[in-house]
Amino acid sequence: MSNSLFRKKSLATIIKDSKEGFTEGHETGSMHKVLKVKDLTAMGIAAVIGAGIFSTIGEASFHGGPAVSLLFVITAITCGFSALCYAEFASRVPVSGSAYTYSYVTFGELAAWVIGWALILEYAIGNIAVAISWGGYFNNLLKGFGLDIPVWLTNNYDSVSPEVLAAAPTIGGVPVILNLPAFLITVIITYLAYVGIQESKRTANFMVLLKILVILFVIVVGFFYVNPENWNPFMPNGFSGVLKGVSAVFFAYIGFDAVSTTAEECSNPQRDLPKGMIYSLIICTVLYILISFVLTGMVPFTSLKVDDPLAFVFTSVGLTKISYIISISAVIATASVLLVFQIGQPRIWMSMSRDGLLPKKFSKIHPRFKTPSFATIITGIIVGVPALFLNLTIVTDLTSIGTLFAFILVCGGVLLLPEDDNKANKRFRLPYINGRFIVPVLIVVLAILFREEIGRRFGAVNEGWSVWKHNIPFFLFAVATVIMTFLSFVRRLSLIPVLGMLSCFYLMTEIELKNWIVFSIWLVIGLTIYFTYSKFNSKLRGVANS
Ligand code: ALA
Repeated sequence: MSNSLFRKKSLATIIKDSKEGFTEGHETGSMHKVLKVKDLTAMGIAAVIGAGIFSTIGEASFHGGPAVSLLFVITAITCGFSALCYAEFASRVPVSGSAYTYSYVTFGELAAWVIGWALILEYAIGNIAVAISWGGYFNNLLKGFGLDIPVWLTNNYDSVSPEVLAAAPTIGGVPVILNLPAFLITVIITYLAYVGIQESKRTANFMVLLKILVILFVIVVGFFYVNPENWNPFMPNGFSGVLKGVSAVFFAYIGFDAVSTTAEECSNPQRDLPKGMIYSLIICTVLYILISFVLTGMVPFTSLKVDDPLAFVFTSVGLTKISYIISISAVIATASVLLVFQIGQPRIWMSMSRDGLLPKKFSKIHPRFKTPSFATIITGIIVGVPALFLNLTIVTDLTSIGTLFAFILVCGGVLLLPEDDNKANKRFRLPYINGRFIVPVLIVVLAILFREEIGRRFGAVNEGWSVWKHNIPFFLFAVATVIMTFLSFVRRLSLIPVLGMLSCFYLMTEIELKNWIVFSIWLVIGLTIYFTYSKFNSKLRGVANS
């Protein structure tokens, strides 16, 4: 294989250039450097609290029962490892581009491209999910005001009944079913992202404050309506029932990492970015765990299979007005998630374009607004148009699998970062804990604790292809675990990134096989573009591997 696939960006050059306002020879100094810890934390919360906690938590609670709170803890720990790795990278490589740039300096160009491609799932496809969820709450609100938009203008093909399909207008004999609100909110948010980070920052800060207040309100008021009997049984469908919610719960946490795309708009990225990510994750974790207890305590978990669970529980206990306030705040909360992701995606493309992996237009900065204008418009189209047609679950699952994959590479990348000799630099540092003995001991203990489940998974080999195939992701995980345990022992690997990689990989195995297949197809398309366009246009072409 050609060595060029592994050509890396030089860490030293990136840091030197970024201080001078350039990155790999491209001007970056033209962006406003306005973001501080408070803004970054707000931005993290703006990206995290949204469709997940307002919508998808319902289905997760339905399957897992009150023990869904346990899943929130497990997922938070997994995200915590990844957040620390992101933080280490953000303080070592303080330029835009997030996991994409981080992979470029550690794994090399091909992996960087793959990550950049996978991040489209997190940002753009994730935003389709958020736009759809926004549309759902918005329609409920309008209904509350007595305004009824026709069903064919607020839905997708998969979700409507045959009667609606029959009543819908047709074009050339094909019924037209569109999610117009999801499309329109994408247009508005794209406009905000287009006109500038300063305006977006103000809007995000305002929305965050409001949604934190509402979530706290739900927790405090809901607490008085908790009936402890609803918590019993705690795990009605066993641990496998809890794990059915992985994709939905993980989706609820996605977003703290989006903060890292704004490195070039921070006043002190090496110090502030890590803090922003970690603070936002901690705040959201606490709120989520409390919400999951309140939710499953207020009503029997079996009734939670609804799209608007937070509003629903208050209606169930007779507090209709409160449920109304919650619907309004859900509309605001999900809009702020949209905004952060709609800002993040163009900045990743901007970095990829600067490196030559995407056409030049993607890094064009608007002369007045100082934003990557072309990339912002393309993001708007890629999110807005599918939001007109697609259904929520498909996009949530794809987003979760793509994001977990990106997290694994970020954690792995930290293991490959060269030693930082400049101890005087007061940047965030990931604590090094020697994994030599801890990793093997931990894996053995977990293997013993979960021996029945592991036995069941391996036993599936005897049950024919239709059963066996669903365990392929788990087998891959088992192989990766053995390899990482061995490497941890031999190379004294740093504990946190190793645990980050393994826990994210494990969560991926809990996502259905069909999503793995779609994800694989997505990667193949990405690789085709790389090998036909990006590889030949890379700025590092002809540059010696560093
Ligand atoms: N975590 C974000 C949400 O739940 C993606 O909307």
